[in-house]
Amino acid sequence: MSKLMSYTGARLPRVFVTRQIPGDGMDIVHGVARADVWPDELPPPYATLAERVADCEGLLCLLTDRVDGALLDGAPQLRVVSQLAVGYDNIDVAACTARGVKVGNTPGVLTETTADLAFALLMATARRIVESDRVVRSGRWQTWSPLFMAGVDIHHATIGIVGMGRIGYEVARRAHGFQMTVLYSDERPNEAAERDFGARRLPLDDLLATSDFVTIHTPLQPETTHLMGSRELSLMKPTAILVNSARGPIVDQRALFDALDRGVIGGAGLDVFESEPVPADEPLLALDNVVVAPHIGSASVATRTRMAVIAAENLVAGLRGEPLPHGVN
Ligand code: DGY
Repeated sequence: MSKLMSYTGARLPRVFVTRQIPGDGMDIVHGVARADVWPDELPPPYATLAERVADCEGLLCLLTDRVDGALLDGAPQLRVVSQLAVGYDNIDVAACTARGVKVGNTPGVLTETTADLAFALLMATARRIVESDRVVRSGRWQTWSPLFMAGVDIHHATIGIVGMGRIGYEVARRAHGFQMTVLYSDERPNEAAERDFGARRLPLDDLLATSDFVTIHTPLQPETTHLMGSRELSLMKPTAILVNSARGPIVDQRALFDALDRGVIGGAGLDVFESEPVPADEPLLALDNVVVAPHIGSASVATRTRMAVIAAENLVAGLRGEPLPHGVN
């Protein structure tokens, strides 16, 4: 008798997996369930997702899949929703909890990879790397000259970290290596960051006014939606750079365009957007002082593979009625 049969009787549970995930995770899923795997690169439309999950006991989904009360009502056997990401703002967790559906995510394994990406965006924006690349490739590089492609220094500058959680802490570690002054804004003090990197906690407005770089590492919640609006951006230094690798709606994108266009702030490095994927006519894309990436914070092969394994393990635990290794409800 297989392990699974020992807890389900004779039948393997049905699960819907909303995208091809790295092999190690997929093997775990196939080992315990009858898996229906969405084959396309693009996410299943909401109606298709609802239809495919209707008779499932498990759902393994991505941040591009909306899981709400209506979807849950149409899937009465669903016991677990396992998200392959640390953020889970696409899932109505309260609705899941009310229906006895467990929700899992993949924290921890992506912390350092995401911090690397935030720092890469910070450096690329500060030192105008993407703009420089374009100049060289297009044949517009004519000579060496004193202020040609001159940017701003990273070493010894002041970084303001909004949200000193796991990822914020790892960004602080990188900043400390560059001998930066580390400021942070968070509801709670982070003693480890204060001890290890000399980080100083400040109210958001004070952090914005003093930092050369502001980087966002807070989850998307009602209270962090448009946390960075025109008022907040106007508090920043005219040379300051904003980095967002958390969630797009934390920054008011129209206000950001306006601030960048009018020179209210110096630049932005963005991995996330209010609406993803970003349309080609998004005004921000026309600005040279903006560096963009397509939501790749955790996208190293090793990290995405580990995330897939954790998501699969959460799914299996949920199917078994056991506590999820990384549960959020
Ligand atoms: C997450 O896990 O929330 C990341 O945004 C995915 O890259």
